Amino acid sequence: MAQKTKMIVDKDFKIAEIDKRVYGSFIEHLGRAVYTGIYQPGHGTADEEGFRKDVIELVKELDVPIIRYPGGNFVSNFFWEDSVGPKENRKKRLDLAWRTMESNEVGLGEFAHWCDKVNSEMMMAVNLGTRGTADALNLLEYCNLDTNSFYADMRRKHGVEKPYGIKVWCLGNEMDGPWQMGHKTATEYGRLAAETAKAMKTMDDSLEFVVCGSSNVDMPTFPQWEASTLEEAYEYVDYISLHQYYGNAKDDTADFFAKTQDLEKFLHSVIATCDFVKAKKRSKKTIHLSFDEWNVWYHSHQKDNEEMQRRPWQTAPHLLEDIYTFEDAVLNGLILITFLKHADRVKVACLAQLVNVIAPIMTETDGPAWRQTIFYPFLHASKYGRGVALTPVISTGEHDTTKHEGVTDIEAVAVYNEEKQEVTIFAVNRNTTEDIEFESDMRGFPGYQVKEYLAMESDDMKVVNSAAASPVAPVLKKDYKMDGGIFTTIMKKCSWNVIRFGL
Ligand code: AHR
Repeated sequence: MAQKTKMIVDKDFKIAEIDKRVYGSFIEHLGRAVYTGIYQPGHGTADEEGFRKDVIELVKELDVPIIRYPGGNFVSNFFWEDSVGPKENRKKRLDLAWRTMESNEVGLGEFAHWCDKVNSEMMMAVNLGTRGTADALNLLEYCNLDTNSFYADMRRKHGVEKPYGIKVWCLGNEMDGPWQMGHKTATEYGRLAAETAKAMKTMDDSLEFVVCGSSNVDMPTFPQWEASTLEEAYEYVDYISLHQYYGNAKDDTADFFAKTQDLEKFLHSVIATCDFVKAKKRSKKTIHLSFDEWNVWYHSHQKDNEEMQRRPWQTAPHLLEDIYTFEDAVLNGLILITFLKHADRVKVACLAQLVNVIAPIMTETDGPAWRQTIFYPFLHASKYGRGVALTPVISTGEHDTTKHEGVTDIEAVAVYNEEKQEVTIFAVNRNTTEDIEFESDMRGFPGYQVKEYLAMESDDMKVVNSAAASPVAPVLKKDYKMDGGIFTTIMKKCSWNVIRFGL
């Protein structure tokens, strides 16, 4: 058996208060995320506005505090005016990002209303690709202002008296990517982002802004993009975005599970770059991270490329409909643990995306909504990962994989919820060959007992859920000991574990 893992959990080992927005997600006008995803008039569960109640219930179950909208690549040629006002007057538009047809039947107002239904806040992205500062200002006035001025009046004419009060604004999307409509150099973009945020702040200086970082860690311009962009925009923005998707195309599970080592490096590099610019500018302000696109994404690539090439301009085609395996769920658990370990800097994170498009929730057009494998680690983290993240003091074995060295066997973090008097340990045994004895010394929490131990375990890394069956779901574990404040169990290889303690 591999080396025993020992963890110490103490309330004095505080990383930071977890910002609940790390359990955010993302809805883009892409594929079936909106049409036949959240919205399907005529479906058996549709409410009076055409929103699917089965989807609303699942989103509420995940308790997602913030949802990024309307893109993604889609936003870079989005004309928000087309998506508001009487539906019969709305223009059909070509979406150049995904080569589909956008009916604008669901727009800004409908989405804001849907967010209320799922108890979420909206994180709005402005088009800094094919449009610019003036349009962003008009949008902000339409959404947030109570003035007697053209766009605020327009909102009222559209029947919305009270402003939406959107707090967090993304200054474009992936502007470093050559695929982006209106792609820019770092300096061009940095200037535009700075001027746009500056102007928007004159309307409301309590807004928070996310400036675009790199589209992924492998972009040739990373991390100079971050440095150059922040040189221009530092004083006007609060967060820099990070995006990263992972895949296991080579079917190498051990190496796949090691990918959060790359994620750690990515986070450290972006934090270092932000702090370099901070030092250079002699600024007192710290830029935080908005990891506003993360997930596994690779299962659907080939099919999607063919679909977009061969049959462009469809309405709500099946795009990016990755069906997630058991191992994808384990990796997502590892990613969530990594974010919690960086709770001092990662303040927003969006699982990309939420419904049908690389999503934890899927819908059958003529049937039910169902939970993918990746639904569960996110659910557990969102439900039990609120409070203070505690530094994981762990001694564990290590192993090498095809492309990674010194990969820790067990990755874990603990969260203390003082209000509920609860501590939760999230842990993954990412050793693919051995079960491991796991011991946690709960010395900072005298009298705490195990309330519940949930786990996801499987011998089949490729097993998936579907509308018909859910073989991948958490199980209640009973095989553990709690003795003198020491918790012990055998953690199965390739498993996601949630151990909840309380008084
Ligand atoms: O989430 C899917 C796409 O991935 C987004 O539109 C884009 O921002 C990223 O490249």
